[in-house]
Amino acid sequence: MMISSAPRSVQEQCAAWRKAGQSVALVPTMGFFHQGHVSLMQAAREKADKVVVSLFVNPSQFGPAEDLGSYPRDPERDRAMAGENGVDLLFTPSSREMYPLHFGTWVSVPSLSETLCGKTRPTHFKGVCTVVLKLFNICTPDFAFFGEKDWQQLTIIKRMAEDLNLPVQIVGGPLVREADGLAMSSRNSYLTPKERFAAAQISQGLHAARARFAAGERSAAKLEKCILDYWLDNLPQGRVDYLELVHPDTLEAQPLARTDTRMITAVYLGKARLIDNMSLG
Ligand code: PAF
Repeated sequence: MMISSAPRSVQEQCAAWRKAGQSVALVPTMGFFHQGHVSLMQAAREKADKVVVSLFVNPSQFGPAEDLGSYPRDPERDRAMAGENGVDLLFTPSSREMYPLHFGTWVSVPSLSETLCGKTRPTHFKGVCTVVLKLFNICTPDFAFFGEKDWQQLTIIKRMAEDLNLPVQIVGGPLVREADGLAMSSRNSYLTPKERFAAAQISQGLHAARARFAAGERSAAKLEKCILDYWLDNLPQGRVDYLELVHPDTLEAQPLARTDTRMITAVYLGKARLIDNMSLG
């Protein structure tokens, strides 16, 4: 596996592969790999001739009071895991390389970025879109893989790719859960053992709404109440940032729930802010 922190040499390598007729898949990450990242690497491996994984904790997507400084990192373990999973090139740029002194161009998709996570993280998706577009321009991938755990992020990146005619196919990878149902996330490492045990209730609450939907309930307000009541009883230490039932593509609230309606939520538990989503059907 090649490892490079230099955007120019990664650009040259990817261009050489493509010139030789080889397709390139990119998996953008912030590292501290778990099975969710591994599943994206494996899907990329199946789809393309060459797999590039970027590992960059992108400062521009963190707000001033957020966890940039404490975001979990383990570059050695990440290197080993990328190597074991058939990655051809690990791109590990520094902040200075990605954001040189006079950096001044930003990309955003306001229509989809101001809702859900965007309400508490108003600059987050602008940072995500900007770094992802930079990664696309450096790696020129045919395919780019993003986890469905970040449903809003995936939706925004698909919109950006379509709006800007980017020559890349955006592929969503299924959300990977721990055995007890907690969505895998690097930020789960912030949880104390007690909080970690309780965190399984987040997805259980969503399952409770699925069961109610399967029994015939179609009112989004009632399904939301069903989830909030479940959490009140089973996750009293959690603080709900938001919970919404939305259209999977437009992210607009759907008062009348359908099979493809997406339940999307963020819940604070201890030091962690945990996101999850699930379709009703
Ligand atoms: O999902 C993430 O890990 C990040 O938001 C991404 C897409 C790598 C951009 O920094």
